[in-house]
Amino acid sequence: EISVGILGTGKYVPERRLTNQELEQKVETNDEWIVTRTGIRERRIAAPEQATSDLAYEASVKALDAAGITADDIDLIIVATITPDMFFPSTACLLQEKLGAKKAAAFDLSAACSGFIYGLANAVGFIKTGMYRHVLVVGAECLSRITDYEDRNTCILFGDGAGAVVLGQVPEGRGFKSFKLGADGSGGELLRIRGGGSRYPSSEETINNRHHFIEMNGRDVFKFAVRVMGSAAEEALESAGYSKADIDLLIPHQANIRIIQSALERLDLSEDKAMINLDRYGNVSAASIPLALAEAVEEGRVKEGDCLVLVGFGGGLTWGATVLKW
Ligand code: ACO
Repeated sequence: EISVGILGTGKYVPERRLTNQELEQKVETNDEWIVTRTGIRERRIAAPEQATSDLAYEASVKALDAAGITADDIDLIIVATITPDMFFPSTACLLQEKLGAKKAAAFDLSAACSGFIYGLANAVGFIKTGMYRHVLVVGAECLSRITDYEDRNTCILFGDGAGAVVLGQVPEGRGFKSFKLGADGSGGELLRIRGGGSRYPSSEETINNRHHFIEMNGRDVFKFAVRVMGSAAEEALESAGYSKADIDLLIPHQANIRIIQSALERLDLSEDKAMINLDRYGNVSAASIPLALAEAVEEGRVKEGDCLVLVGFGGGLTWGATVLKW
């Protein structure tokens, strides 16, 4: 069987920082509340002329470079996002054109914050069957474009950014060991954007009701996240034949420091075993995990032979975890 792993990682975040102090000027909140309840200090915001495919492009160029391949070598592009440039064409097609990846098939994947893990699972499948050699998987978001900056429950959480990886064959014994993907559509209303689709097409009414923005039941999403982060990671470990003690580095979805801490507790891990960068970027949905992974690689925190667990949850509801031998 072909072993599939990550050949290169890349990330991009826009220059502009949105600090807690600035948010204090927009809504009734304060730095202390945001830091203690979420761990977030600032987020990045895309420039007016930037859209998700632009962020995806920057991260992808770096990932290709790190993998030592060219755009011509890419067989498939998967972009996980809830903030595509537009309904269609897909952001993956826009990215394909920007990269000049003429031989690549391309599609977007919608699984909210779990999208990147779903994307990895797809890519591994395509490569294992022998259908493709190199797959570019990107998580990219401009959440600032769908965030209601009058809603203090949500506007403190979200930011913009992108992370990309190139998947391909790796030496035997390394690479992805298992995936655990899940969904619970009964929790769909806990986290969603109602308007602008075929159910409630954009109209004056959807705009006036602010249905073009993210709406969220924070408390229930929090409870779901705490439950599922630990269980998804444990199930992925079990099907890989690994145990909690084998984990060298946890790369969790970056939604809330308290959610990450409870996952660490459940997995008997100390905080230094987790990659945490939400203080600087907030929650970047599908981009959070690849952004954290690329930064961990940049910082030299990932060494050959390390056991990584990537785990995320999000709207849908959805969740996903994978065990990866680096
Ligand atoms: N500043 C000050 N006070 C606030 C703020 C704020 N920004 N936001 C909420 N509050 C208030 C609330 O109104 C509430 O007041 P009340 O008790 O008078 O009603 C109080 O603070 C406590 O609110 P809780 O919701 O209980 O606060 P909690 O500790 O749960 O933190 C938070 C809220 C941060 C939203 C948390 O629930 C959370 O992180 N949930 C998960 C959210 C998440 O991860 N969403 C993204 C999923 S990923 C995706 O797919 C995009």
